[in-house]
Amino acid sequence: MVGGGTVGGGVYQAIDRNALLIASRTGVLLKIKRIAVKALDEPRSVEIPVSLLTTDWKEVVNDPEVQVVVELVGGTGVAREVILAALEQGKSVVTANKALLASHGEELFKVAQENDAALFYEASVAGGIPLIRSIREGLVCNRFLNISGIVNGTCNYILTQMEALGHGFEEVLKEAQTNGYAEANPALDVEGHDAHHKISILASLAYNAWVAPEKVYREGISSITGLDIQTCKEWGYKLKLLGTVKHISREADVDHIQVRVAPTLIPQTHILASVDGVFNGVSVRGDVVDETFFYGRGAGQDATASATGTTHPNEPDSTGCCASL
Ligand code: HSE
Repeated sequence: MVGGGTVGGGVYQAIDRNALLIASRTGVLLKIKRIAVKALDEPRSVEIPVSLLTTDWKEVVNDPEVQVVVELVGGTGVAREVILAALEQGKSVVTANKALLASHGEELFKVAQENDAALFYEASVAGGIPLIRSIREGLVCNRFLNISGIVNGTCNYILTQMEALGHGFEEVLKEAQTNGYAEANPALDVEGHDAHHKISILASLAYNAWVAPEKVYREGISSITGLDIQTCKEWGYKLKLLGTVKHISREADVDHIQVRVAPTLIPQTHILASVDGVFNGVSVRGDVVDETFFYGRGAGQDATASATGTTHPNEPDSTGCCASL
């Protein structure tokens, strides 16, 4: 693993707890060989044996015994180097890095294909909800008509607490940080960047084409006030940060879609309005199945660790999301 922070600690803990169970189900016994961290003595919520730690990510990626590299450092700098170095050696990569996938996904999947390597990213969208796999596999016989979702746990937590308890924006944001929901730079959450990355990944996956991030409309929740929320409530709505992928038309075998992230009024009777706190909820409408709905924890150590552990190197179709491009 590269990264031993909140999510890294959760993944270590989940594998430590359930490795034998996973092996009984998948035939693969996961063993963590080494974990690269920023500093050996930094405080950790999960205790990791010092013998596993290194401060040099190359010791992880270049170790011939390491078959799978789990990238959990986030950001688009070192994380990209780590993933490229692993894929170039034909190693499978698991990542939760939505920002990197949204901005460099095309490059990463190309390198994965060239090296016959797998790139898994279930944890990058909607925390613990197995949404990527559902869109890729469970709903494969559908054309997607609409995807609408609450995909940022931090913003949903903030909006919920502001409405339920009347707490101020800054106060609730601090709670979200303490709970390990927020990004290292919380502006990524509250300005809508994180949801923008996630909805771009879902749009790319659903339509087999890379969605250019600059073409996606983005608006966050930093200017929402308690008064806005209360007024919406009086009108019969809940205010949610919603990501949407809307199918507009299909002409000459080309799909035209609209992708956006913005604070949106949801009627209180709609299922999305009942998605509160750190939970995410995503409605996916297909032309065959009609509406499906996915719900679960959208952020936090264990939810993200669960999604990170949903893939294994012997998986038959392990070429990743947009490998079919
Ligand atoms: N900061 C993200 C969120 C973490 O709040 O949803 C999970 O991707």
